[in-house]
Amino acid sequence: MRILVTGGTGYIGSHTTLALLEAGHDVVVVDNLLNSSQESLRRVQELAGRKAEFIQADLLDTAALDAAFDGRSIEAVIHFAGLKAVGESVAKPLYYYSNNVVGTINLLHAMERHDVRTIVFSSSATVYGASEEVPLTEDTPMNAVNPYGRTKEHIEDILSDLGSADPRWSIALLRYFNPAGAHESGRIGEDPTGIPNNLLPFVAQVAVGRRDKVMVFGNDYPTPDGTGVRDYIHVVDLAAGHLAALNYLGEGPGVRRWNLGTGNGSSVLEVLTAFSAAAGKDIAYEFTDRRPGDAAVSYADPSAAHADLGWRAERSLATMCEDHWRWQKNNPEGYAAG
Ligand code: UD1
Repeated sequence: MRILVTGGTGYIGSHTTLALLEAGHDVVVVDNLLNSSQESLRRVQELAGRKAEFIQADLLDTAALDAAFDGRSIEAVIHFAGLKAVGESVAKPLYYYSNNVVGTINLLHAMERHDVRTIVFSSSATVYGASEEVPLTEDTPMNAVNPYGRTKEHIEDILSDLGSADPRWSIALLRYFNPAGAHESGRIGEDPTGIPNNLLPFVAQVAVGRRDKVMVFGNDYPTPDGTGVRDYIHVVDLAAGHLAALNYLGEGPGVRRWNLGTGNGSSVLEVLTAFSAAAGKDIAYEFTDRRPGDAAVSYADPSAAHADLGWRAERSLATMCEDHWRWQKNNPEGYAAG
């Protein structure tokens, strides 16, 4: 199949592009390189022994988007492209709504014009907001608590409405829990711009000496050790989930949503211990106040993805930390060094 991947140079996008190439698909990556580097694709090519075509384009540029579909016989789209920093979304809501929501609408128009009606959308467990009825199932109501999360929620609604209005569409909404880890080669991984917002990349940068210590946001949560609990999922397992969803969509139209998580929760302190073991060094940390908007506990009920897609996450927290560390140790400055 020939698949167009938006945001294919990013963290989850690059791992999924590799998995697609390895499975024999042809891939066209469309990315504006705002928060990512084309170096990731160069390395994907080196790992796969095959190239993904790259088009630098922004989803707000409708002419460039049309040109990306023209004459390429695209059969399906996997849509990762989007902004994802919660704090920035609070400060700049219009920027987030126009990039994420308008960008997606432009993509859907371009797909319709080119008769492509199969899409896998990169949603997030963030749509569940601070819901603490764990495990979270796909039936847990959406209730995002910040503009970033609401862009995911709005896009899910738009895609659901589209699927209802035109039954030719095959749509998968994948709600990721907390992506972590890296490809086992240590060649591709997460390379956040600026100060990482998320736990794993922050811990990895402390371990490699780029930052002094991890600030642990809260130690008074109603959890066994008082720190927040999340469902960390290996990015390679996540990539495999996209291929499984794509296969499922090939069987017929409809709109489906699946949680992609492990079903296990780990606390911040458990992550620090596992990362420390993987890196073979202590990782300095300090407790500080809770981060506004954080839930105490979030983990998936991933049984629907297993039942429908035959997919489940296979890699442990220890493996995630080992792989994340290999990537960070071998690439202390991420892709910057080329
Ligand atoms: C965050 C976002 C969520 C987004 C997801 C993936 C918020 C409120 N939520 O989720 O919308 O979909 O990332 O991009 O930002 N922690 C620390 N110190 C740190 C960083 C995190 O203690 O420096 C703790 C957090 O309090 C949390 C856990 O580590 O308990 C995981 O945090 P993070 O990686 O930011 O993920 P989420 O908060 O689950």
